[in-house]
Amino acid sequence: LIASTTLTSFASAAFAADVPSPNQYYWPKGMNLAKLRAHDSESDPYGADYYTNYHKKFEQLNLQEVRKDIEKVMLTSQPWWPADYGNYGPFFIRMAWHNAGTYRAIDGRGGEEGAQQRFAQLNDWPDNASLDKAKRLLWPVKKKYGEKLSWGDLIVLTGDVALNQMGFKTLGFVGGRPDDWQSELIYWGPGTTFFPNKGSFQVGQGGSLKHPLAATHMGLIYVNPEGPNGDPDPAKSAQMIRLAFGRMAMNDEETVALIAGGHTFGKAHGAHPNSCLSGPPVANGVEQQGLGWVNHCIKGKQTADDASTSGLEGSWSADPIHFTTQYIDNLLNNDWVLGTSPTGAHQWHTKTDDKIAPDPANPNDPSKMRPIMMFTTDIALKTDPVYHKILARWAEHPNEFADAFARAWFKLVVRDMGPKTRYFGSEVPKETFVWQDPVNMPAKPIGQGEVRELKKLIAASGLSDRELIKTAWAAASSHRVTDHRGGANGGRLALMPQNGWAVNDPQELQTILPKLQQVRDKFNSTHKARTVSLADVIVLGGSVGIEDAAKKAGVKIQVPFAPGRGDATQEQTDVNSFNLLEPTADAFRNYYRADADNTPPLNAMVDKADTLGLTIPEMTVLLGGLRTLDVNSGHSAAGVLTKNPGVLSTDFFTNVLTMDTRWQKVPGHEDLYEGFDRATGQKLWTATDVDLVFGANPELRAVAEVYASDDAKEKFYNDFVKAWTKVMNLDRFDLQR
Ligand code: HEM
Repeated sequence: LIASTTLTSFASAAFAADVPSPNQYYWPKGMNLAKLRAHDSESDPYGADYYTNYHKKFEQLNLQEVRKDIEKVMLTSQPWWPADYGNYGPFFIRMAWHNAGTYRAIDGRGGEEGAQQRFAQLNDWPDNASLDKAKRLLWPVKKKYGEKLSWGDLIVLTGDVALNQMGFKTLGFVGGRPDDWQSELIYWGPGTTFFPNKGSFQVGQGGSLKHPLAATHMGLIYVNPEGPNGDPDPAKSAQMIRLAFGRMAMNDEETVALIAGGHTFGKAHGAHPNSCLSGPPVANGVEQQGLGWVNHCIKGKQTADDASTSGLEGSWSADPIHFTTQYIDNLLNNDWVLGTSPTGAHQWHTKTDDKIAPDPANPNDPSKMRPIMMFTTDIALKTDPVYHKILARWAEHPNEFADAFARAWFKLVVRDMGPKTRYFGSEVPKETFVWQDPVNMPAKPIGQGEVRELKKLIAASGLSDRELIKTAWAAASSHRVTDHRGGANGGRLALMPQNGWAVNDPQELQTILPKLQQVRDKFNSTHKARTVSLADVIVLGGSVGIEDAAKKAGVKIQVPFAPGRGDATQEQTDVNSFNLLEPTADAFRNYYRADADNTPPLNAMVDKADTLGLTIPEMTVLLGGLRTLDVNSGHSAAGVLTKNPGVLSTDFFTNVLTMDTRWQKVPGHEDLYEGFDRATGQKLWTATDVDLVFGANPELRAVAEVYASDDAKEKFYNDFVKAWTKVMNLDRFDLQR
């Protein structure tokens, strides 16, 4: 298979030149805040309003014209990477699938949006070999439409065009994926080597795979085609497929539909030995212009018969550029025998080895026909009883297969886009799916007059500032920008499973929510035309609480509130899928669950801030402000470094930075400290790692100093309100249209 390179050898190559090295190079355990810096829009050439502007530009596109342009590229073979059978369609489907297939349901990272496949490390993963060429083929189309068509949308649309051109009807195309402009820092696994090196296997004893990982090997989108760690055992392979596709949010039927649908098309490439190929794009000289896997063994004119990618070789079907049921029929109706590809990789062939498939370079030449093949992962679908049953049904009912593939493909390429309000374009399917987390949006949101009225009702509800603020935070902070799921919209805090999450103090929540529901009902009973949702009341409650907590400090502030959220029903809420959103740590509420899989508290803090799309100053001001508001989970006193809990102030910052306090670890506790007055020895405070790091980490201390300074009062209140409002509105995509 593809020549692999260790991550460490990439790293040392990069650091060997006369360039500055990140601190992590010298002190690998140091805190890395780089993820949060990526939330600044500075490196985005289209600027801060790119998201909103992109949608407007995209809507100007004539999708039919773009489709024609893509189809032309697809059917025009280029001498620098000749098309198999004169059609790049299958190649393009693989590109779209690999871009989408990085999605992992546990933390919402990966997926189509952002088009991360353009950057290292995804661009350089062994599993993405040759896909650099697919994107280059599309450059003329990207160039033509520029700002109107992101790479993320172009890749998905190209997959759609390819499927259509080869006779498959998809559900439709959804646009609206703004691009990323830098490689996203994502934890893809503990391995220091890439697939196929043995150390790249990430699955432990008993099939365990650490959260939030989804790929079984470092450098693969999901599983090893030859079987786990190269072992061509179909039963073990089926276990890996179930594990990995499950983490991609696909059930058994969706998994089989995707693999069977995908491998209906195209072929695997292993014409030349691995030693013929250069390294991935990142390892090549500039003269290769960002391309990798350069084949040095091609003599004379390059043809489609020269292509080497995975090292496996052959097609699954005798008609690889049309949608058929041949994959299923071939898999079920033949006896498959384990053999090897020309490069020595495990693959399966039929007993008779009939030459029924066309040659990619000479598809019309009967004398050059080839046998078909299957991977171990394909055979796994036949041998696993559950997968087999699904395939057998589809062999009898091909329409059900086509329908299942269309739905699974749509979910695959759209899953990371969040709610339907983020879908753009004229080809969006009408049907609603539960995985889209639907919300019943109000026909007419309340106006500012009604907001004032509601605020009075909330203030009179008997709920404390603390209760109001922590409830609003619990609702809104469930959002994750990684796949735009969760958030206050939908009022799902009152539904299962969110109302039972430990971080939300469910028992207390049960006493708070009815009072907010009463406010909603009282308001709605007198306002028939413009009713309010529970979601809006929860968020507005946060504003009421914060304004009052600032008033107690003698500061008059107004927390902006944008009405218009809707409520969802329990039936519209997939409990299992929502459970993935449960925080195992929320530094803003000083909550940390010591699960075996949990990352250390400081990493978890950065991770939570990252999923909320916060910058370093936003994280700092929010965490410090929230501490003084006394809204910790379990009402813990840790980090509440103020003599006036419940009053919004800069006390957290002044008290965490002062040299008058001596901190020491509480014996027997991993993550708990006590602070003593240096002069009197009196115990003053308790705190955790995520509190003290604002005094300990120089970069965080630098920001904390800003808010602790005597002249920073106004700035603190302004910044806190801005960051708070940002979190409350993270899921308000309707406001950005
Ligand atoms: C090709 C692995 C699932 C679509 C390939 C290749 C490998 C592979 C090794 C050959 C690459 C090359 O040498 O050019 C796997 C594994 C899967 C999987 C292990 C999961 C168990 C899927 C899915 C889709 C898909 C879900 C799409 C829905 C394709 C297509 C090709 C391909 C269209 C042909 C590409 C071409 O002709 O250039 N796959 N794949 N695969 N795969 Fe998959």
